[in-house]
Amino acid sequence: MEDHRIKDVVVLGGGTAGWMTAAYLGKALGQHARITVLEAPSIPKIGVGEATVPNLHKTFFDFLGLSEEEWMRECNASFKMGIKFINWRTDGTGQADARPHGGGTDHYYHLFGILPNHENLPLSHYWAAKKLSGQTDEAFDYACYREPAIIDQKLSPRHSDGTKWTNYAWHFDAHLVADFLRRFATQKQGVVHVEDEMVDALIDQRGHITALKTKAGRTIEGDLFIDCSGFRSLLINKVMREPFLDMSDHLLNDSAVATAVPHDDETNGVEPYTSSIAMSSGWTWKIPMLGRFGTGYVYSSRFADADTATAEFCRMWGLDPETQPLNHVKFRVGRNRRAWVKNCVSIGLSSCFLEPLESTGIYFITAALYQLGKHFPDKRFDPVLADSFNREIEIMFDDSRDFLQAHFTLAPRTDTPFWRACKELELADDIKHKIAAYRAGLAINMPITDEVNYYANFEAEFRNFWTNSSYYCVFAGLDVLPSHPLPAMTYRPDAFEGAEAVFAEIKRSRAELVAKLPSTYEYLRNLHGR
Ligand code: FDA
Repeated sequence: MEDHRIKDVVVLGGGTAGWMTAAYLGKALGQHARITVLEAPSIPKIGVGEATVPNLHKTFFDFLGLSEEEWMRECNASFKMGIKFINWRTDGTGQADARPHGGGTDHYYHLFGILPNHENLPLSHYWAAKKLSGQTDEAFDYACYREPAIIDQKLSPRHSDGTKWTNYAWHFDAHLVADFLRRFATQKQGVVHVEDEMVDALIDQRGHITALKTKAGRTIEGDLFIDCSGFRSLLINKVMREPFLDMSDHLLNDSAVATAVPHDDETNGVEPYTSSIAMSSGWTWKIPMLGRFGTGYVYSSRFADADTATAEFCRMWGLDPETQPLNHVKFRVGRNRRAWVKNCVSIGLSSCFLEPLESTGIYFITAALYQLGKHFPDKRFDPVLADSFNREIEIMFDDSRDFLQAHFTLAPRTDTPFWRACKELELADDIKHKIAAYRAGLAINMPITDEVNYYANFEAEFRNFWTNSSYYCVFAGLDVLPSHPLPAMTYRPDAFEGAEAVFAEIKRSRAELVAKLPSTYEYLRNLHGR
């Protein structure tokens, strides 16, 4: 039988996407293919990208056979149990602390823990019915999850003996991740690393790329080319001429100013979550790691210039814009019409990008690698494989874009031109239907009842990535409630009585955990041996 297998894979780019791709394919293809990474040392990687989502370990590092402790140590990683949204409901300029709101403060969490179910309905529905009838004043996240009160106290998602009690993701140093994966891929998997700049590509009569030409005169031949060249998109957009679909009509932010701020962990502890702080023309991330936090103001250049954004950002953290090292980034929002064209697959920023509000960048890389592994071609390049891959990427991206847009559309703030403009952007039909379903009391997407089957099965997770819990956390967090409880519930008053036991169990279990858990700082200090 003729062997049609791909023998040479060439990855263009050595950022997070390039090295994740090389390592993933190194494992998926084993000794059957040679993998070469071509990286221009003179062209810097983007270097931001420090917050993740929980499937990263299972779908990527575990697949490579790397333990969580090992890669966490290598990448100065910390824990993330969710995102804390601060001041998304109250007017004002950037302020790191939550402002007063509705008897408490203006913050809510988007959590990774699983929302309990009772009698085939998520607990969110019982909470909404109680809230709408004035029986509770408690916020959705604090009533339905154990995590918020524990997170507030900066406690760890692992017990002192290492046992995990909830689901979490990680924060890490993006440069350390790329370095770690480069060492792993080149030393353990035999990936070839060429440091040179691509200047041209050779194409055959079918329109397939056959080789990349470099500045130093090399010709690097391959059967399959993966474009990880970042926003430059050198292969997919420039060589293959695939159009990039701009989506700035859905999301206004296109710029960021970022920095790292030293942090006294011993005095203040380490927050086990990402913060997302609403600003005048966007929002600021805060990503804690041992000894520092990474932060960046993501803003719309239509509503703030770089100086204005920098001034608001630096004022919030008490930084001097004249002396503080600041990284200014411009980005594009959207995706390629097709992520895979002929023998060229784009992964990472060259493929698609959404502003980092829900930490989707590295998730999109992981998901694309999983899909590439599943659809991996041979030299015949059956177009059905590429079409199916492209459909998956398109659905993944557009669904996430809509979820992000809903954050801005539903946020009650209208105090600045940016926040007012967010309300005027058209929503896609799919998210309009989801909002309508939510208002009618229905669950959006399948509720997740079983953590093991959800987080251990990427196929299931990929098809239901933004779960009913995600939508509830954000919509209820923004004070957007269903118009009425799900009518079917009113026929089952006994179910409400049973739900009370679930609410009570959450409080009991939370108190038990608070009494036992180590602080995040203490846990990380031991893990990192500091
Ligand atoms: P990147 O630009 O890093 O790398 C491109 C590579 O191509 C470089 O190695 C470069 O040298 C190489 N190259 C370019 N031209 C070349 C040529 N001619 N020849 C050879 N090599 C060439 N994601 C996330 O999950 N969580 C987060 O919190 C954030 N936050 C965030 C904030 C902001 C402001 C942005 C813009 C992005 C994020 N991201 C993110 C996204 C994340 O940064 C991104 O997904 C990864 O870093 C992947 O980047 P790439 O590797 O695709 O491009």
